[in-house]
Amino acid sequence: MSKSDDDSLRPATKLVQGGRRPEWTGDPRLGGGVVNPPVWRASTILYDSIADLKARGHATHDKLYYGRRGTPTVWALADALTEMEPGAEGTLLYPSGVAANSAGMLALLAPGDHLLMVDSAYEPTRAFCNGLLKRYGVDTTYYDPLVGAGIAELIRPETKLIFLESPGSLTFEVQDIPAIVAVARARGVLTMLDNTWATPLLFPALAHGVDVTMMSLTKYVGGHSDAMMGSLTATKAVWPRLRSAAYQLGQAVSPDDCALMLRGLRTLDVRLARHQASALAVAEWLAARADVGRVLHPALAGDPGHTIWARDFTGASGLFGFTLKGSDEAGRTRFIEALSHFGIGFSWGGYESLVVPSNPADIRTATVWTDPDPLLRLSIGLEDPADLIADLERGFAAMAA
Ligand SMILES: Cc1ncc(COP(=O)(O)O)c(C=O)c1O
Repeated sequence: MSKSDDDSLRPATKLVQGGRRPEWTGDPRLGGGVVNPPVWRASTILYDSIADLKARGHATHDKLYYGRRGTPTVWALADALTEMEPGAEGTLLYPSGVAANSAGMLALLAPGDHLLMVDSAYEPTRAFCNGLLKRYGVDTTYYDPLVGAGIAELIRPETKLIFLESPGSLTFEVQDIPAIVAVARARGVLTMLDNTWATPLLFPALAHGVDVTMMSLTKYVGGHSDAMMGSLTATKAVWPRLRSAAYQLGQAVSPDDCALMLRGLRTLDVRLARHQASALAVAEWLAARADVGRVLHPALAGDPGHTIWARDFTGASGLFGFTLKGSDEAGRTRFIEALSHFGIGFSWGGYESLVVPSNPADIRTATVWTDPDPLLRLSIGLEDPADLIADLERGFAAMAA
């Protein structure tokens, strides 16, 4: 047990203490301990005797068994994430966020089952539903992210899982998660949330009644754009199914990457606060411009999702969208290519700002994206927001040229 198992501790303290169990950070033979759980690289684990080999149960989570089942570096990260999520039984780690999402759905669904998937989901999540999951015999219905308690009308006898992502990818709709969870619980349907945008710091999902919460650790937890990983954190009722499926699928994460993720996790609270403040400053500046159509950021008072966001979330991260009023594809390209502090690239949540063009109209099926203005997505990094604003000013000048 580490000190952050103490439920009276606040989240920022838990981030610092998480996963630092004395048995993983100290060695009495050396007379002391180290601050960070060291990197334990292993495939083979050596046993003292045949009796020892036989006694070591297959299902152990925190005893060395075989490299694929993890070492203290892996367990430290999993424990730290579990401790961040009140109501969680455990966390499983996957080589990417996409792998975590796919493994979670495979574990909770069987041929003949029906899945309700939010229409604003990250595109590769949809690709899994339309591809392998369909071949596996699971039928997916996409639903309007703003459906709220109306989700009840979409539930069939064979519906086993409702997948949520809030705010939505690219379009940032805020879902009424408590209303959907209440319906799901009453009807015996499980819920799974892609909580990458908020992390448990801004939205503790299990405390809001969600059964499984997923994060692409590649984003804010890693925070430095140099490692990929995903996590599933679950309640006691669901955890054994996830763990059994994870063991069968055999995906393992590298202890070196876990050490990078643990390093990122320690500073998540301060980084998110800075991402939030800078993103809000940029979003407010954009919202005041005549050449901007809409700013898609739930922390702005005029945003359609603002009321639900303010009720359920304790803050915002640094990812949001905006449209270029009356512009076109060529204007958007001139805008983006004139920027020097925003890299053009996928992913987000790192210390450096990023920009990508986005086209939700090409992706949606349950709802129609009608806004004719070109849309962009910004990931606001840790630079001084005044420099970012000056850069965006250059983008608008190039767009208009
Ligand atoms: C909302 C969301 N979920 C999941 C993922 C997938 O994560 P990864 O890139 O770690 O596979 C992403 C990646 O961009 C994402 O934006």
